Amino acid sequence: MKILITGANGMLAHDLIAVLKERHKIIAYAREALDITARDHVYRSVRELSPDVVINCAAFTQVDRAEAEPEAALLVNGIGVQNLALACHDRGLPLCHISTDYVFDGEKRSPYSPFDKTRPVNVYGESKLAGEKYIQWLTNKFYVIRTSWLYGKGGNNFVSTILKLSEERPEIRVVKDQIGSPTSTVSLSHAVKNLIETGAYGIYHFTDKTDGGISWFDFAREIVKLSGHNTEIVPITTDEFPRPARRPRRSFLDTGLFSLVTGHKPEDWQKVLKNYLSA
Ligand SMILES: NC(=O)c1ccc[n+]([C@@H]2O[C@H](COP(=O)([O-])OP(=O)(O)OC[C@H]3O[C@@H](n4cnc5c(N)ncnc54)[C@H](OP(=O)(O)O)[C@@H]3O)[C@@H](O)[C@H]2O)c1
Repeated sequence: MKILITGANGMLAHDLIAVLKERHKIIAYAREALDITARDHVYRSVRELSPDVVINCAAFTQVDRAEAEPEAALLVNGIGVQNLALACHDRGLPLCHISTDYVFDGEKRSPYSPFDKTRPVNVYGESKLAGEKYIQWLTNKFYVIRTSWLYGKGGNNFVSTILKLSEERPEIRVVKDQIGSPTSTVSLSHAVKNLIETGAYGIYHFTDKTDGGISWFDFAREIVKLSGHNTEIVPITTDEFPRPARRPRRSFLDTGLFSLVTGHKPEDWQKVLKNYLSA
């Protein structure tokens, strides 16, 4: 397939391009080459390049900054996605889009299925939900993949922060009362590849495998253990670490539907993290 990837300088795109190019022809456009908020340019690019599928990795991803700049977040995560959905619909092309566990409020005690009711608790989540809605309203050929706690070589993330801090400090305080599942950009890239080869359009959840979710504290402890540092990880509560944007408390995503459709089962998060750190 010929695949157009937007947001090509981002963390996910870095690994997605590498994974997809083994089998597909990739046109990778960073913001400078294609700003997804520029409607005419989006239409023209999709028409002229004539890809078989568009994968959107472009996003406004600074969760705390979004609270102070809601219009900037909505412009990229809402209107930018609207532009892509319209342009893809115009050409009859599928759009693959990455979304987030932050479309949920985190109050559910069991895993979130793709059919659960959304209710974001921060501006970033609202803007990502706007993108999902535009896709569902404007096109019928789409793959929306919600994921969580992404880390990868192509960008700054929780793993790189903990590794850096553990070289500088004897102890790091990390929140223990927020639960979710980490996901490597390599795992997600393979998931995207498998899904876009199915033609089974819809909304899916994909994360690395945890049994019921882990806390940021658990995640940090494993990173430090596997990297051989002696830094002590100290558990704290969300209230002890106030941030501009509220976070969902429990955003454990059920990946069952994704596995049913693709036959691809997520790997254990500790194994994935170990591979990542030893690479
Ligand atoms: N990171 C996470 O923990 C996480 C969790 C769940 C879901 N997700 C979702 O996963 C996807 C990939 O995230 P990521 O971590 O790879 O994000 P990222 O590293 O922040 O990359 C996003 C890319 O989008 C580009 N971009 C921003 N505005 C643009 C525009 N108007 N037109 C074109 N490109 C634009 C950015 O360019 P600049 O560098 O020039 O700004 C950046 O290269 C996003 O949809 C995100 O919402 C992420």
